[in-house]
Amino acid sequence: MTDTTAPAYSGPKRIFSGIQPTGNLHLGNYLGALKKFVDLQATEWETIYCVVDQHAITQAPDVWGGPELLASYTRQIAAAYLAAGIDPKRSIIFAQSAVREHTELAWVFNCVARMGWVERMTQFKDKAGKDAERASVGLFTYPVLMAADILLYKATHVPVGDDQKQHLELSRDIAERFNRDFNVPDFFPVPEPLIKGPGARIMSLKDGTKKMSKSDPSDLSRINLVDDSDTIAKKIKKATTDPLGPMPEDVKGLEGRPEVENLVGIYSAVSGESVEAVVAKYAGQGFGVFKPALAEVMVAHLAPITARYREIMDDPAEVDRVLRDGADRARAIAAPIMDEVRRTVGFWGA
Ligand code: TYM
Repeated sequence: MTDTTAPAYSGPKRIFSGIQPTGNLHLGNYLGALKKFVDLQATEWETIYCVVDQHAITQAPDVWGGPELLASYTRQIAAAYLAAGIDPKRSIIFAQSAVREHTELAWVFNCVARMGWVERMTQFKDKAGKDAERASVGLFTYPVLMAADILLYKATHVPVGDDQKQHLELSRDIAERFNRDFNVPDFFPVPEPLIKGPGARIMSLKDGTKKMSKSDPSDLSRINLVDDSDTIAKKIKKATTDPLGPMPEDVKGLEGRPEVENLVGIYSAVSGESVEAVVAKYAGQGFGVFKPALAEVMVAHLAPITARYREIMDDPAEVDRVLRDGADRARAIAAPIMDEVRRTVGFWGA
């Protein structure tokens, strides 16, 4: 886990992160984000984990499921948080839309962020595709809402996968610009991304140059957190490798072999063994040996999470209770910070 340079800001250290309730979580979400959320509970820091349902609606309703499904998808992500090991007493778990200050701060930040900064965001270009004119305005300002999510809690550290790096840079720019424009030095911390580690960029099992993603039409390209043991074993068996021979003798031998590098990275992230150790263990072995071993460590790690997830989903009222309690606790932190922002901006009555 990286702890990059400490911010100048002298307030409490606080972790914030979020996941969108759009479809099943996959191994990339788990290793890039959720597993880190769990691990960070071992620190002294406050940990706040959000289900970002307002981000979900930036795409067309058929992408996020529509109004009948949104609340249940939110519950599913909260259940995955709990199943993975987030303790609702230790951490705050809540839905973004339940704390209205997120969108209020996002508006102020829309007026702080510059068009040029947001236009540079590559994820908008990827998600909007060729027809950017038809994308929602919300999809364009999506990273501004993300900055509001983080800074509404004056969060100092944000665990995310590598694909969110650019969005985090924008959050940093917005924090600095707000502090400067309103002459309130250090009002907002400049949040540090926590990205490093072998899980930060999990690639498709079918193409080592594309990231594992919910939107890939091929289910064989990803491991879903709800996949059963047989499905995991089948997907690993069918994972693309390359014709460049067996497992490499050393880490350098992973160069130019993105599919193999990805599988080794997954093994390392799931088992906690370093990439070097995994390469040494399977040096020169065929994939007929490595793949079943990989499937085994994955099943050993994921099966208990999947089982807990199913149990938790049998009691949706309990998940709702966790989300309600989390929203109350999140609001208690967010509301006074938003009041300060209102006063700082100079709004009437603030
Ligand atoms: P989302 O919902 O797309 O993804 C959730 C988390 O999973 C990570 N991730 C991956 N990590 C490694 N390999 C992959 N293939 C992979 N695919 C996804 C993402 O990096 C992310 O950490 N914008 C965010 C949600 C968000 C947020 C925030 C995050 C909204 N507000 C505030 C942090 C702080 C997103 O769309 O994540």
